[in-house]
Amino acid sequence: MYLTREEERALDGELGPALELAMKVLVKLGDLFGAEKLVPISSAHVSGISYKTAGDVAIEFLRDLAQVGARASVLATTNPCGFDERLKGLLDLPAEVIEAQEELVGLYSKLGLRRTLTCVPYYQLRPKPGQHLAWAESSAVIYANSVIGAYTNREGAPSALLAAIAGKTPDHGLHRPENRGPSMVFKLDFKPRDELELWASGFLIGQVAKDRIPCLLVPRGLSDWELKGLGAAMASGGMTAMFTLASEIGHEGLGGLEKVSIGREDVRDVVDKLSSQGEPELIFIGCPHCSTEELELIATLLRGRRVRPGKQLWICTSRYLRASHPGLTSAIEASGALVLVDTCVVVSWVERLGVDVVATNSPKAAYYLPGLSGVEVQLASLRECINMACAS
Ligand code: F3S
Repeated sequence: MYLTREEERALDGELGPALELAMKVLVKLGDLFGAEKLVPISSAHVSGISYKTAGDVAIEFLRDLAQVGARASVLATTNPCGFDERLKGLLDLPAEVIEAQEELVGLYSKLGLRRTLTCVPYYQLRPKPGQHLAWAESSAVIYANSVIGAYTNREGAPSALLAAIAGKTPDHGLHRPENRGPSMVFKLDFKPRDELELWASGFLIGQVAKDRIPCLLVPRGLSDWELKGLGAAMASGGMTAMFTLASEIGHEGLGGLEKVSIGREDVRDVVDKLSSQGEPELIFIGCPHCSTEELELIATLLRGRRVRPGKQLWICTSRYLRASHPGLTSAIEASGALVLVDTCVVVSWVERLGVDVVATNSPKAAYYLPGLSGVEVQLASLRECINMACAS
């Protein structure tokens, strides 16, 4: 891989041990993926912030980095952690878990990362189209590539962090314009009635496309929050890191590509496979974290209604968006729902609540929750989730 004089010096340790380590790993990864050079990045987004999923090994790694004076050299944001202030009490977590989580978040801050603690950093610090990024968090990666038009591969937590320190990432995969075209076409043979039908289609597309870029023919316009959830579902069904919409690129270039049709029955099948039948005690909306549009919709659906006794309704969003919309937050919480920040049901310790079944509108959450928290999941649309939570 070609390195500039400065990059050679960093690799040789002349600019300190932190940069040396970052460069060693990035150059190794670059060689592995056939990159010819490193490309400067505008930002990094780092996952692995929840102590539940990252564990002690992350703390040790970060302690070592902090000890040698590592610092992010570009804007670097953080994914959700295991709890916010209110959940800390609700979950009745052991003191050592609370301490470990707080140390983990503190170490990221010490390394110069912003305490955004959200999987939708783009609503606060939005990259520009064409900028190169090193983002982990598959739902944010696919949104950045497909909706914003920025360039990022699907990084792991360590490679995103080391890219933040170096301010660069290997120039391969989705950083190269020639790799950003679709290689399969998916046609939805029905008009999705709600976001769940759309997102379940996305999960199926991810399963089929795997790491290829799908082009979607969808028979209606999609809003930003629908696109956000569609990408998240696709990226959890497969290793998909980017999709395109046929309406954006025109139908001409799609002639020679493999085509797959998706019908409503295929989507019902996905929902059935990700769902169980039990009665949900916890209803969770906000995977990925809710946007302003979703908070408005939820506030409207909850107007004049109360969460039923024995049910909990959690709405997860970013600290930034909650603070930006105090009126929406109070309108939602007037129903007895909680607007939680910094965390989500998937990366928190929801099993400590003693709930057996969680309802959600997110196929991504439905896919991960049983394995991570041992709970069953009922997939339902946002509207149905609110109806399950509330008396009429
Ligand atoms: Fe975000 Fe948690 Fe879903 S981090 S994408 S809300 S699993």
